[in-house]
Formats: sequence, structure tokens, C-alpha cells
Amino acid sequence: MLEVAVIGAGASGLVAARQLIHAGLHPTIFEASNAIGGAWNSKGTGKMWNGLHTNLSKYTCRFSDFPWPDGTSMFPSVDEMHDYLEGYSDKFLTSSPPSCNFQLECKVFNVEQVLTTTAIQNANYKVEWTDLTTQTTHSRDFGGVVVASGFFNTPKWPAFIFVTKNNKQPQLMHSSEYRTNSMFKDKNVAVVGSSFSALEMSANIAKTAASRVVNIAPSIPWVIPRWIPTIQPTLKTTDEYEEEQNISDESTTTSLTILPADLVLYQRTQPYPKVPETTSLTPDDCRKRHEYIQSLVGLKQRNSTLGEPLNTNEPPMVAISDEYLDLLREDKIEVVHGRLVGINDDGTLQIDGNSGDNSTSELNGIDHVICCTGFTPKLHNFLSTDILSSIDYDQDDCFSPMTLACDTLHPSLPNLSFCGMYRGPYMGIMEMQARLAAGVMSGTITLEEEQIQSALKTSQSIRTSIPRAQFPHFDYPGFIDTLSTLCYQNGECPKYNTAVGDMIVPTFYQANDELSQQCKAEIEDEVKNGQDGSRMPKLVLGSILGKWTYDRHIVHLQTRKVEHVYGTVKYSKYWDRSTDEEDEEDEEDELRDELRDVTRYREDGFYELTPNKKFDVFREYEYEVNNDALEIYFVEGGKRALLFLSLKFVPEDNISSSDDGYWIKASSDHLCIKDLYSATFRVKLNGLSASEIIIKYRVVGPSKDYESTTILKPQSS
Ligand SMILES: Cc1cc2nc3c(=O)[nH]c(=O)nc-3n(C[C@H](O)[C@H](O)[C@H](O)COP(=O)(O)OP(=O)(O)OC[C@H]3O[C@@H](n4cnc5c(N)ncnc54)[C@H](O)[C@@H]3O)c2cc1C
Ligand SMILES: NC(=O)c1ccc[n+]([C@@H]2O[C@H](COP(=O)([O-])OP(=O)(O)OC[C@H]3O[C@@H](n4cnc5c(N)ncnc54)[C@H](OP(=O)(O)O)[C@@H]3O)[C@@H](O)[C@H]2O)c1
Repeated sequence: MLEVAVIGAGASGLVAARQLIHAGLHPTIFEASNAIGGAWNSKGTGKMWNGLHTNLSKYTCRFSDFPWPDGTSMFPSVDEMHDYLEGYSDKFLTSSPPSCNFQLECKVFNVEQVLTTTAIQNANYKVEWTDLTTQTTHSRDFGGVVVASGFFNTPKWPAFIFVTKNNKQPQLMHSSEYRTNSMFKDKNVAVVGSSFSALEMSANIAKTAASRVVNIAPSIPWVIPRWIPTIQPTLKTTDEYEEEQNISDESTTTSLTILPADLVLYQRTQPYPKVPETTSLTPDDCRKRHEYIQSLVGLKQRNSTLGEPLNTNEPPMVAISDEYLDLLREDKIEVVHGRLVGINDDGTLQIDGNSGDNSTSELNGIDHVICCTGFTPKLHNFLSTDILSSIDYDQDDCFSPMTLACDTLHPSLPNLSFCGMYRGPYMGIMEMQARLAAGVMSGTITLEEEQIQSALKTSQSIRTSIPRAQFPHFDYPGFIDTLSTLCYQNGECPKYNTAVGDMIVPTFYQANDELSQQCKAEIEDEVKNGQDGSRMPKLVLGSILGKWTYDRHIVHLQTRKVEHVYGTVKYSKYWDRSTDEEDEEDEEDELRDELRDVTRYREDGFYELTPNKKFDVFREYEYEVNNDALEIYFVEGGKRALLFLSLKFVPEDNISSSDDGYWIKASSDHLCIKDLYSATFRVKLNGLSASEIIIKYRVVGPSKDYESTTILKPQSS
């Protein structure tokens, strides 16, 4: 049985070991830390902060043959991810008979090829490591090696940062060291970077900060929330479908569908297999991608101080954050466009502007600088120079530092494989790389020379393409399908979701029919839930923030008298503690999860008695999502009072989207003493922003019989 060393016990190392065992090989995992889980090792040396949730749904963040337990969050927390990986390891690696040898607290410092003529199949690579508990070094030959040491492991700092520090300079931290927002509550913080960590961390700090949070953003990404609305074919329940078939031959209808972003972005645009993988984008491709993302986000970002990406001829950058744009709007995050290039002795931050005119700016009074400046490859710490030279390794290339077939294999390095070692690894891809590695090592997969050469060419073209996309394998369908055609040469997988419009998730890339059917049913339920109106209140609250003008007409149905009120409305959001009493323990802990999003409606205007006579009016309400309802509360003396309305959104069939959006509607009845208020709340949505709101009340009571219609339009700034 071939002995294989696996370097790293993160998601990639665990799935590699599982696939090696499945292929009849015997893995030994070396892990520098004292526990498994890698970046998700919430109890040890992980890279995540308290309150972080995955930015891809649980359908993408999973392995094909290990479903999440019931009740898992749609975007799992760090603890959920850690437990998932532990559960995976328990089931596939350590349950009896134990089939994987774990060497925890063992850091590999050398891997080299055994090149003597006497090298036998079971001794192709020498692996050397330090046992960190005893500080002793060890060496052993293995038949194969899988490198799964993680791509987001070693912090990358801005080049200038290693200046002498004095006590006037702000404290520096890398994003990978950040754990909780509680220590920044009263500090002025600069968050450097414009990618995932920078936006999410700015938001995480700003929600509880009493002081400044400044995001120094070198570029402008599209900011996409975890949930996005799209128009999709309406999914009927079986009963509804049968009923419809009996009544008529109606064609497919469409519905507003709110889904996790990954389930929208990774829908097939070509039937399986989408090969070859797309590796470069023409300016026209780039423009189309920008247009598509713009159609998803609407005008929300354009109207923010971040603005939209400027050069649409270049590949779009994306960052996922639910609240970054809302916090910008509430002035809780400031954006400074530019690149941090230095910190003066007096603590002033030097920022190079993006305008191309050599403009620089300065930022004073910053207590902490958090560098969300990415990660750097560190394979040169343990792979021999010969191996590095074979894979054409470039340690300064944080995008794609080596040339490999499918970022997994190299023909000159038999039985050496890489798993998850590229920028932005997804769990489904790690698993396919692991299958390929194990299959090739065990001889169950044979690759033709032409297949290997073509895959190497793809790798080279990714490394040399200019301009570079955000991720080397930005074509997720293309990459996973390519791996699938190599791993399942008999075409056995995927059996499901192979047609245009189908969602691509790891589960379909394995042979167990029951697991695939189960996942298919879960995804169908997600689509139905996305269409039943229950996810709309949150979307609506995110879309209406900002300033509006309003016009209200009140028609008294008995007398036909018409009253007119007009003015401005501001919808603003704040983050409130859910508990009345401050819990001391919470203070030390992450505050994010205990915060409630509350939206304040404030209306200031004039009541027009006659064309020449008017008087000031103002009123306030509070809006909050409660389960699947949008609740509106009265506000008295600045404080929330009684519940006024509980609005439910109703799904509408055949929703048709024009250039400026589509209407959605909610309604509620409320008995206020003896008066019955029937309310309808209509919002015209354009992606994530609203372009018009119409609020109607029909009020009937012993002395009331009127209809009030308020039309809100965005206030031009
Ligand atoms: C802040 C942040 C958020 C992220 N969020 C998401 C997300 O929402 N969804 C998602 O899919 N991905 C996310 N990722 C990507 C994440 O890297 C992957 O999910 C996954 O953790 C990668 O697993 P891995 O095993 O390849 O690497 P890692 O999890 O980094 O594990 C590598 C392991 O190798 C060990 N190791 C390294 N060198 C050696 C050595 N020489 N000897 C012994 N052991 C060694 C390390 O100690 C580590 O335990 C995020 C990453 C970061 C940094
Ligand atoms: N689950 C989550 O919510 C979550 C949160 C955070 C991260 N992640 C994951 O973690 C991975 C890494 O993301 P990341 O954001 O940490 O790293 P990243 O994507 O590599 O981004 C690094 C950022 O730092 C910027 N930068 C570098 N040097 C700079 C300087 N001197 N001044 C200003 N900016 C500078 C880069 O800009 P240039 O490119 O212009 O140099 C880039 O914007 C991603 O895959 C992401 O999905 C997930």
C-alpha cells in the first residue's frame, strides 16, 4: 500500500486523505497546529474572526458526500465550519479501523524527490519535519506527497510596513490576526484593502464603533450581499403544478427569487461539460460581466461614497458584504480611495490617490491600522528547489505562483500532488483535485499526455493573461467540469444539474444517487422559499435606505375632500443591542450577532391647508424584520412605541422586469382602537435599490373613511 504524506489538515488535507484512503492508499497528515480545520480551526490557530460567516452558501461550502446537519445556517459560522470538518474527519479518517495517521504539531520543513536509481515505488519523496512539542526533527520516505498547506496562510504586508516603530505610530495588525471588534470600539481604525477581508472587517468594526472607521481602498470592487434577488422561473409545488396542468396549458411563469449569491452566480450558461475552462477575458467579456453584476446590484452602489468600478474594460472585482454599503450610507465607514504607501514618524498615514496624477493624501489620528492586504505563498519554506523549479514557482506571485495541470499535478513530479493550492479554492474543487491526485497515484485514473499538456498550457495562460482576473479559476463551472471529465472518464458524474440554468454545487460530482437527489430536493426548496415572499422584508429594508421626497394625498370618501402633505423622508439604519441589560460577558465577546438591524423612518414636511396656508408636520416610525414580516412601529418621543403594522409580502407570478425594475407588494390590516387600517406597501425594486415606493392606507372607522396614498421618489442629491 502506497504511503502518502499529506501536508496540512485543513479542508484540503482532510479531503485529500479521504480520497487517498478511498483509492486504497495510506495517508499520514502532517499538521503544524495542534488541531485539524486549518483556517477554520476556531479553537486554535485559525484565520477567522468571531462572528465571521462563510460568504458562499452551505451548498457550495461542503464536500460532495457529507451533507450538513439539519439546522445549519445558510452561511455557516466559523464554529459550524470547524464542526463540519471535524465530523468529516471522524467519519472518513478516524472511525474504526483508523485509516489515517495524524501527526499534529509537526511542521514539515523539507520535501525532496528521492532521485537515486534505487528509488522504489514506496520511497519517491523524503519528508522532513519538526515535532513542535519536542523540538526534534524527523525524516521519512513516502511513496507520494499531497501538498495541502493552504493558500491563505501566510500574511502579506504592504512592502513599506517594516519601518522602525515608535509610540506615535498606530498599532499594526494583519487581517489574519483580527479576532473581535470589541477592542476597537473607541479607537480610530484604518482598514487597508478593498477585497473581502477589508469590507467585511470594516463593517464588523463599524457596527459597534464609537469612533472613525476609515477604509483605504486601492480599487473599487462590486459589493454583493450574500442574498441576491433575481427573476427565475416560478417553481410550483406538485399540487399546484398538477392543478395548473388540469386547468390550462399555461407557459412557465417567472417570480422574484431571493437566493444565496453563489446559487445565482454559478448557474450553468452552457450544458455540461463546460470545457475548456475560460482563462482570459476580452474587454467585451469584461464589459458584459460588469453589466451583469450592475443589473444585480442596481443603483445602490453608484449612490454610495465607494462608487462603481471605473474601468469596465478590465475584469470585475467582487467583494461579498451584506452591510458595508449601508454603513457607508450611515457615515459609519469613510472611504479613502487610494493605496497606503507609508506611515510617518508622527503616525500620519500616506495614501497615494488613484487619480493617476500622483496626488497623495494624508490621514491623521489613526490608532490602529488593519492590513487586509492578502496572503502570500510560502511553498519555498518546505519544497526543495528542484521541485520548485519543476513547477516554475514564483514566490512573489500571489495570484498563481506555479504551473501545474489543474493546479494539481506535474508530469515531472510523479506521485506529488497539490490540493487547494490556488487563490480562492472552493471545497468542491479541492475534492475533485483530491480525487484526481488519488486516482493518478493509485493508477485508477490514467491521463493521456495530451490531456496533461493541455492542462499545463491552461495553467500557463492563466499566469500570463493580462489583465488578470480576480481569481485564476474565475470560471468555476469550467474548472470543476474539466476536473470532472478527468476524474469520471466514463461520464458517470454529474448525473444531475447538467443543463443550462442549473446550479452547480459539489454534491452532484459524486456517484451516490441518493445524496444527489437529497441535495436536488433541498435546492428546489430553497428556490421555493426564495419565491414565497418570506425573504423580501430584509431585501426591501436594504433597498430603501436614504433620502426621498414624498407626496401624500388623503381622500375622504364621504365628503370627497382632498388633503395634501408633502416633504422629505429619510430612511436610516442603526444597529441596536437586542438585550435590555448589557451583558458583561458580551462586552468581551463579538458583538455582531447580538445586534438587531433597525430602520428609522423620519418624515418632515408640510400639510397644505389651502394653497397659501400650510404648517409643518413630522412623524417617525421604526421598521424591523421579524421572521418573514416587515413590522412597522410607532415612534413616540424618539422611542419605539406600539406595533402599527405587520406587512407580509406576497409573491407575484409573471413578474416582469423592465429596465428600471419591478414592483413588489406587501399588505397588512390593523385595528387601531375602532379604526381599521388596511395598508399596502409597494416598492419598485431595481436590483438591490428601490426606485419608488407607494404606501396606501384605507382607513374605516366610526368617524373615519379615507384613503391615503403616499408616493416616495428618490431625492436627487
Ligand atoms: C478570512 C477568510 C475567510 C474565508 N472565507 C471563506 C468562505 O467563506 N468560503 C470558502 O469556501 N472559503 C473561504 N476562505 C478560504 C479558505 O482558505 C478555505 O475555505 C479553506 O480553509 C482552505 O483550506 P486549505 O486546507 O486549503 O487551507 P487551510 O485551511 O489554510 O489549511 C492549511 C493547513 O496546513 C497547515 N500547514 C501549512 N504549512 C504546513 C507545514 N509546513 N507543515 C505542516 N502543516 C502545515 C496549516 O497549519 C493549516 O492548518 C476564507 C479564507 C480566509 C482567510
Ligand atoms: N467569509 C468571508 O466573509 C470572508 C471574509 C474575508 C475573506 N474571505 C476570503 O479570504 C480570501 C482572501 O481575501 P482577502 O480580502 O483577505 O485578500 P485579497 O482578496 O488578496 O485582497 C487583498 C487586498 O489588499 C489590497 N492591498 C494590497 N496592498 C495594499 C496597500 N499597500 N494599500 C492598500 N491596499 C492594498 C489589494 O489591492 P490590490 O489588489 O489592488 O493590490 C486587495 O484589495 C478570499 O478568498 C475571500 O473569499 C472571506
